[in-house]
Amino acid sequence: MLYLWIKALHVLAVISWMAGMLYLVRLYVNHAMETESVVMERFQGMERRLLNAITTPAMVVAALTGLGMLLMNPGLFMLAWMQVKLAMVVGMLAMHGLAIGWRKKLIDTPHFKPHTFFRYMNEIPTLLMIVIVVMVIVRPF
Ligand code: HEM
Repeated sequence: MLYLWIKALHVLAVISWMAGMLYLVRLYVNHAMETESVVMERFQGMERRLLNAITTPAMVVAALTGLGMLLMNPGLFMLAWMQVKLAMVVGMLAMHGLAIGWRKKLIDTPHFKPHTFFRYMNEIPTLLMIVIVVMVIVRPF
């Protein structure tokens, strides 16, 4: 029963983490296209709040609940779909780290990358998320 409550919390945290990741990099696209400093400052505030108030706390809760379930049910480590999922999660954590770095760079150098760079980067969490959900729901192997 406790396991199911932890899983419910995990899914809620994952939804918030993914919402944050997808919107954050989309904000970077707009930020990198902007030329007016007032609007750029507004983007900086939106990005800081989205990252620090929602996306990072949600990531921490998703990781803690996920690790908790793995400790309660260590047999999951042996399953190929879980190994693929965890590999994709490592990629998602790397994207999160990169997004933290990009936010800081955009403050001083808003055009350090073209907006197309962020458009491509925005696809990566989407693809990782699709693979993760197929792994945990379909469990193809
Ligand atoms: C942060 C590191 C993560 C860890 C350690 C982790 C680990 C786990 C574990 C152990 C389960 C329970 C599986 C079971 O009981 O059969 C689970 C369930 C689930 N995870 Fe994660 N997970 C993580 C991140 C994610 C992410 C990023 C997503 C989605 C993008 C996700 C989506 C799900 C879903 C939808 C379930 C419920 C599957 C079901 O119905 O049993 N997880 N996770």
